[in-house]
Amino acid sequence: MDWGLQNRLARIIKPATGRTVMLAVDHGYFLGPTSKLENPRATIEPIVEYADALMPTRGVLRTSVDPKTQTPIVLRVSGGTSIIGPSLADESITTTFEEAIRLNVTAVALSIFVGTDYEHNTLMNLADLVNEGETYGIPVLAVTAVGKELGKRDARFLSLSCRIAAELGAHFVKTYYCEEFEKVVEGCPVPVVIAGGPKLDTMNDVFPLTYEAINRGAVGVDMGRNIWQSEHPVAAIQAVRAIVHEKATVAKALELFNDLKATRN
Ligand code: R5P
Repeated sequence: MDWGLQNRLARIIKPATGRTVMLAVDHGYFLGPTSKLENPRATIEPIVEYADALMPTRGVLRTSVDPKTQTPIVLRVSGGTSIIGPSLADESITTTFEEAIRLNVTAVALSIFVGTDYEHNTLMNLADLVNEGETYGIPVLAVTAVGKELGKRDARFLSLSCRIAAELGAHFVKTYYCEEFEKVVEGCPVPVVIAGGPKLDTMNDVFPLTYEAINRGAVGVDMGRNIWQSEHPVAAIQAVRAIVHEKATVAKALELFNDLKATRN
């Protein structure tokens, strides 16, 4: 791996712990004004300082993120579909590398849809991005998307998707947590982060998910709704950080969350 690429990756996956807490705010690219992300700036501003990386589209980056931010940007560069359209899997690359460089991003991200009619197209999107990423020293995050079929989130399917992403050259992979998650990690020779998925009922559900994912080999999270749809997002992201970076137990994270929400938000 070239120096620039290693250096950018190390800005996201922190060398001190080998871990990362990424904050996903790209949902609007196919969901529109998602609940609690209707005003992206208002959602992002209070929590971005606690994230090791922020994952927006270029539209939200330009309109809703302070250019003075010190948080590295992982730019979502695939899209072109909507939740009411015929297929979420029919994505193209929306943003050029020239644009990504102009925006001073630290990495780019796209979704791949293995097992769909658009498998080949989205995998070739990944291969093309990796070719360009290697040229410019910009890492590529492959998101193993499942579209509307949330039932696909099992170790067999996610191992297949993650491994294919790594084989095509993705520098890190984002997937879902599942039973036997360690098998997904074992079969994937690049770092794996997990999405949070749809909002869970309480932090009593989110912290065990985070803890188990880390315990079974994830290098971190790229979490969205379970942080900013929380009633206490600043407390939520700090408690997730404690699990990811400080090996906090679920009980410790809950204690921290309760303390922080009582004092700050
Ligand atoms: C989905 O395709 C988006 O890329 C989200 O960034 C991703 O699902 C992570 O967000 P959440 O934790 O809300 O699932």
